[in-house]
Amino acid sequence: MRVSLSIHTLVVTSAATIILLLISFSALLADKNGIDSIISRPVSRNKIVWDNFNNYTIDIDLDNSTAIFNSILNALKQGASDIHPLGVSYFPAVIPQGTLLYRTGSSQIPESFEWLAFDHEFSYNFGSKYKSYGRKSLDDKSHFKKPTPNIDNDMPANTPITHPPPKSGHRSRDSFLTFRATRDMNKFLYLDGASAAKTSTGEMDSQKLLADVAKVKLKLGDDDDKNGGNMMVERLYASRICKWGKQFGLDGIIRVEIGFEVVLCDFFTDSIELVSNITMEAPGTLLGLPEPTLLTKDNGWPINEEGGLDEDKLTEEQIAILDREDYWQQILENYKLAQSYNWLQAGNSHDSGEKRVKLDYRNFITGINRTYISPDPMNRRLLSHGMTWEKQLKMVDDLETVLKNDFDANESIDWQQVFEEIDNKFSPMLKVMNNTLSHPDFSEEDMAIHVTKYTLNFVARFFANKSDSADDTQFGYGREFAVYQYSKPLKTLETSSDFLIWSSSVRVVREIINVIYDIHETLLPIVTAVAHNDSSMDTTKKQRVDSSREKINNLVETLKWISLNYKCEHACDWDEICFTPSWGPGPLAGGFGFDHNNKEQFGKHYDKSRGRFLINESLQCVKIDTIQKHRSP
Ligand SMILES: *[C@@H]1O[C@H](CO)[C@@H](O)[C@H](O)[C@H]1NC(C)=O
Ligand SMILES: *[C@@H]1O[C@H](CO)[C@@H](O)[C@H](O)[C@H]1NC(C)=O
Ligand SMILES: *[C@@H]1O[C@H](CO)[C@@H](O)[C@H](O)[C@H]1NC(C)=O
Ligand SMILES: *[C@@H]1O[C@H](CO)[C@@H](O)[C@H](O)[C@H]1NC(C)=O
Ligand SMILES: *[C@@H]1O[C@H](CO)[C@@H](O)[C@H](O)[C@H]1NC(C)=O
Ligand SMILES: *[C@@H]1O[C@H](CO)[C@@H](O)[C@H](O)[C@H]1NC(C)=O
Ligand SMILES: *[C@@H]1O[C@H](CO)[C@@H](O)[C@H](O)[C@H]1NC(C)=O
Ligand SMILES: *[C@@H]1O[C@H](CO)[C@@H](O)[C@H](O)[C@H]1NC(C)=O
Repeated sequence: MRVSLSIHTLVVTSAATIILLLISFSALLADKNGIDSIISRPVSRNKIVWDNFNNYTIDIDLDNSTAIFNSILNALKQGASDIHPLGVSYFPAVIPQGTLLYRTGSSQIPESFEWLAFDHEFSYNFGSKYKSYGRKSLDDKSHFKKPTPNIDNDMPANTPITHPPPKSGHRSRDSFLTFRATRDMNKFLYLDGASAAKTSTGEMDSQKLLADVAKVKLKLGDDDDKNGGNMMVERLYASRICKWGKQFGLDGIIRVEIGFEVVLCDFFTDSIELVSNITMEAPGTLLGLPEPTLLTKDNGWPINEEGGLDEDKLTEEQIAILDREDYWQQILENYKLAQSYNWLQAGNSHDSGEKRVKLDYRNFITGINRTYISPDPMNRRLLSHGMTWEKQLKMVDDLETVLKNDFDANESIDWQQVFEEIDNKFSPMLKVMNNTLSHPDFSEEDMAIHVTKYTLNFVARFFANKSDSADDTQFGYGREFAVYQYSKPLKTLETSSDFLIWSSSVRVVREIINVIYDIHETLLPIVTAVAHNDSSMDTTKKQRVDSSREKINNLVETLKWISLNYKCEHACDWDEICFTPSWGPGPLAGGFGFDHNNKEQFGKHYDKSRGRFLINESLQCVKIDTIQKHRSP
């Protein structure tokens, strides 16, 4: 009974397969190219089987495939977005109902587009600036006097541009507003890379492209530009993007700073409500301290031309006041540093992803495979020479097309999940193979044994035992079966974006599998010879090892996976985080504490060949003391 049932099922299944194959065949024949007819309609994952999956992939070169693979793997991950800071894509995103978002500063709901943080630690730190006590209060006044650089000037390579000077000392009581999404907010665009970096090296290209096209499409006057004279360039971009997005119901954009943030286009819609309005007290007030003494000439303090104190002109009484307030300030510094640390820690917690944002890859729009974009994720630009105005218009047209849909991440394949699995499984194996093949103390025989330790069991899992089955098209085996296993889609391939991503994943996985197989087949004969005490490999073993080394070196270099190169220096302690520096404002390595002479940035080094700073491969453990040591004076 069971047997006949399964035979029956088998017959039905293969009949169905034949019909499906015939359908895809006729579709292929109907169109010379074949591909257009495939991607013009969805292809169920059930149709994509081990011996036909190549029929459903589209040409894409390895560099473009790798770029897509890494963009998706790194999406919405704090550290990865800073290491590969130059995003070239737009990811349709959903902020689910119930998500809380934060903002400090004014007590009123913003009338225009404005920024919201996903982490309250981020918002709290960003919005709140308290008056200092004692001698420190004089620094506050001069500290933010640096001119706000204009992004259109020739800036040194990726110089972070600070936010407009915070009104230090002027506002002692900020409001802390908490908003809640009252429904799924399903029309956001997430901009990948370090998209809030405020640099001029390409991190903001995806905003610039959209804003430039919006300006022309909507025939926006130069009024915005005039405002833009004093306006942060990112405000100008946001203004144009929101104006353009209005007709499509665009909710806003999502970017990464230290922690993720939203530029919400409109606060007065039915998709968001205010759920909390807290007036924040300064830490000094919470300790019951009086307001800081104002050290001004008018108040009788000996202030010199430079705005500093003439210490030798202080009265006894003034010295007593300063000593007392300096001591208070010293205590208050602890809370200030902890506040900065909390912010870093909140950002760090999203190294594994900002899981509150859901991506709909079906509507993914990217510059990759539209024109040549350098394969170097640390030295590329969306607005490269090849990205002509026509291509920019086409990208925005494509965005307008996808924005006609409500994004729904539930319906999308979670490509990041597929790619994380590939990264997690292959990265350690490839790294060990790479290291082994250049180990200074190993003989060729040692190398062959240590490398095949990894490859033999891999290859054995896909070994073709032809005698098991007369018909070798019935069951899967071999390299291509391995490729299929690692890259197969989790759901129906629906859109051309799905096919682009899927084709990239097949291309990347095939490269990996081919290298593993090739190296295995090259090195196993050395082990076989060892096992048989035979010397037949003596003349070729060096050349076999050399060619294997070259293959694995090229592969790890091409993949550019962060996991292959970046690692924490050691396991961090409870009061530490494994810190990846970021590019925008922040308490360490950039922003308010940034050294404009480009001399030193914590955890970064200047890369001459790229003409920019890069993040050190060895990531440091950071704690409150580190911030104290490295922040600006
Ligand atoms: C599609 O896959 C089938 C099964 O492997 C194969 O026979 C056929 O040649 C493929 N068609 C094309 C157009 O590649
Ligand atoms: C928040 O609270 C402050 C202080 O009570 C008040 O002035 C302000 O109007 C409130 N804001 C909103 C949006 O309700
Ligand atoms: C990516 O694809 C585009 C379009 O086919 C092509 O021009 C480019 O050379 C490819 N490679 C890279 C690295 O951009
Ligand atoms: C997506 O799935 C979640 C969890 O199952 C559900 O709460 C949400 O309503 C779904 N969204 C849509 C648009 O179907
Ligand atoms: C791979 O090994 C080579 C030496 O053969 C080394 O230069 C390179 O840095 C290694 N790559 C990685 C990602 O470890
Ligand atoms: C990549 O670009 C090339 C050249 O424009 C095109 O033929 C190919 O179909 C594209 N691949 C994908 C997966 O879209
Ligand atoms: C292989 O050669 C070594 C050294 O000549 C010898 O000691 C050993 O017994 C041989 N092993 C076999 C299996 O022949
Ligand atoms: C980062 O790298 C640079 C150059 O290698 C080095 O000088 C610097 O000490 C490193 N910084 C940290 C914090 O690791």
